[in-house]
Amino acid sequence: MNARSGMESIGVRQRLITLEGIDGAGKSTHIKAMAQLLQEQGGSVLVSREPGGSALAERLRELLLHEPMGSFTELLLIFAARNDHVERSIRPALARGQWVLCDRFTDATWAYQGAGRGMDAAQIAWLEASVHADVQPLRTYWFDLDPMEAAKRRALSRGSADRFESEDLRFFERVRTGYQERAALRPDCFFRIDASQNQSQIAELLLNDLKECIQSLPAGAPIIGSDCA
Ligand SMILES: Nc1ncnc2c1ncn2[C@@H]1O[C@H](COP(=O)(O)OP(=O)(O)OP(=O)(O)O)[C@@H](O)[C@H]1O
Ligand SMILES: [Mg+2]
Repeated sequence: MNARSGMESIGVRQRLITLEGIDGAGKSTHIKAMAQLLQEQGGSVLVSREPGGSALAERLRELLLHEPMGSFTELLLIFAARNDHVERSIRPALARGQWVLCDRFTDATWAYQGAGRGMDAAQIAWLEASVHADVQPLRTYWFDLDPMEAAKRRALSRGSADRFESEDLRFFERVRTGYQERAALRPDCFFRIDASQNQSQIAELLLNDLKECIQSLPAGAPIIGSDCA
């Protein structure tokens, strides 16, 4: 069982913000401006990503993106990486009163490994509850984009494709449907962004909502340090 020291006082409204959406939808494009806003208005920020976000999880990321493996192995490795990331990075940052801005989190597992690969929902739910029942996003920005458009963006900007980017359009259609299902399950948390809009339209929507999010939380624990570049 994971150590949960310090988390009880934070309660359910934790300062975890996640970005979700299929590969090439535009998540990473906006993360720096979001981190800046959080720093200006909300204090200290840890910017992170999944798979990855801790030294061990970054090594597992390399395997996940490039090493051939079966779907169940992939699911277990994703949660092994997440467990290390939550234990070593996310939980301590939240306990210090920092914001955590994470490029993908467990909604991506529901979408990619659940809807995309067809992995069993009960297994995903068990892994999620075991790894981070105490840590859930306050807000999830879902960059929703037609898979064909996302593929065009990737073709313009990327070199060789990783294991996920190499999947066909039908896979990404399933992943998109998976995100739709997550959004329907957690309507208060999910904020859908029509990612076909131009970057400045998206930035305006995102940053306005993020500002409201920051203002919705009472002043928290003392804020120490910053990992934001
Ligand atoms: N609104 C937009 N309109 C057109 N192109 C965009 C838009 N937003 C981002 N892009 C471009 O699309 C490409 C993919 O964007 P980005 O890397 O942010 O996607 P991502 O969601 O982080 O993808 P991945 O999940 O693979 O990391 C980049 O070249 C980026 O400049
Ligand atoms: Mg990205």
